[in-house]
Amino acid sequence: MKKTVLVSGGAGFIGSHVTVELIEAGYDVVVADNFSNCDRTCFEGVKKITGREDLPLVVMDFCDKKAVKDLFTKYHIDAVIHFAAFKAVGESVDKPLMYYQNNLVSFMNVLETAQEIGGCNVLFSSSATVYGEPDTVPVTEDTPRKPAMSPYGNTKTMCEDILRDTVKANGGKLKGILLRYFNPIGAHPSALIGELPRGVPNNLVPFITQTAVGKREVLNIFGNDYPTPDGTCQRDFIDIVDLARAHVFAVTRMIEGKMKEDCEVFNVGTGRPLSVMELVNAFEKVNGVKVNYKIAPRRAGDITAIWADPTKANTEMGWKATRTIEETLKAAWAWECHLAGE
Ligand code: UD1
Repeated sequence: MKKTVLVSGGAGFIGSHVTVELIEAGYDVVVADNFSNCDRTCFEGVKKITGREDLPLVVMDFCDKKAVKDLFTKYHIDAVIHFAAFKAVGESVDKPLMYYQNNLVSFMNVLETAQEIGGCNVLFSSSATVYGEPDTVPVTEDTPRKPAMSPYGNTKTMCEDILRDTVKANGGKLKGILLRYFNPIGAHPSALIGELPRGVPNNLVPFITQTAVGKREVLNIFGNDYPTPDGTCQRDFIDIVDLARAHVFAVTRMIEGKMKEDCEVFNVGTGRPLSVMELVNAFEKVNGVKVNYKIAPRRAGDITAIWADPTKANTEMGWKATRTIEETLKAAWAWECHLAGE
């Protein structure tokens, strides 16, 4: 029998790509979203890519416990992937309570409901932000977490702990996987779904593509005096489709009972560091377009260099990132051009 995966926040950037990969791997998916930070574009794109016009969509807020309960009553959920959360670092500094309220309550409602129905497989979307400024790179899953630099980062650390404690209290009935994402970028090769930031993008790649297409005048490169080879920060940029596929591996591992511990954690990265400057240069070269950029002061709170040691995910889950940075940056540009109607 087909297994059903609930994807909370399934209409967003990561959620929509994960939904596509789950459907293509043979899962039934229920998408739930309150559209607080996205519109219907990606949900419609998912239906087009997968040919699933009947893809279930539940418009709801995960902070509404009754709505979460009703959802788990209506559908037989074999696993839930929880994305529904706010994610803007700067905004979280200005509005901490909004972040704690939304990100913690929504996740606790999922866990409480999973517990009430006698257990479930829960996958939480965590972030490399939990490592803070690491003492050594690359980071493994055993690299100590550091105090979060923002309320947003703190919600990731706290949700990791909430999941771990809940799994422990449920004696094997409720299982959890924490996926720590590095920097997801790019778009689906169909150019039907991709990142759709509202207002001025905070993240690097949407800013690059918007500058290249003429929506933004100039890309600020935040600092070229870091102790790195070219002075700009280094990150582990991972293709969104590769990242989405990691979720399929993780869900299958949970559903097929292949977990070694009831709560597992995996880094989802490529293991390849790339600097901001290298990324901008690669984007220009592969797409044959210029990006108007200037060197600007450092951005507060930025980490100098972080990239993953993805060995655990490679060997334990059998997942590996396969797309080249050229493929990824081409896809990011194709998506921006699609949005511009070209
Ligand atoms: C950020 C968050 C991280 C979050 C992730 C979500 C911080 C410290 N970290 O990661 O918690 O999980 O977003 O996607 O905010 N850059 C520029 N110019 C720009 C934009 C970015 O030079 O206009 C540089 C940044 O200084 C950084 C790199 O590009 O060195 C990547 O930035 P970004 O895409 O925002 O991701 P992170 O900061 O790594």
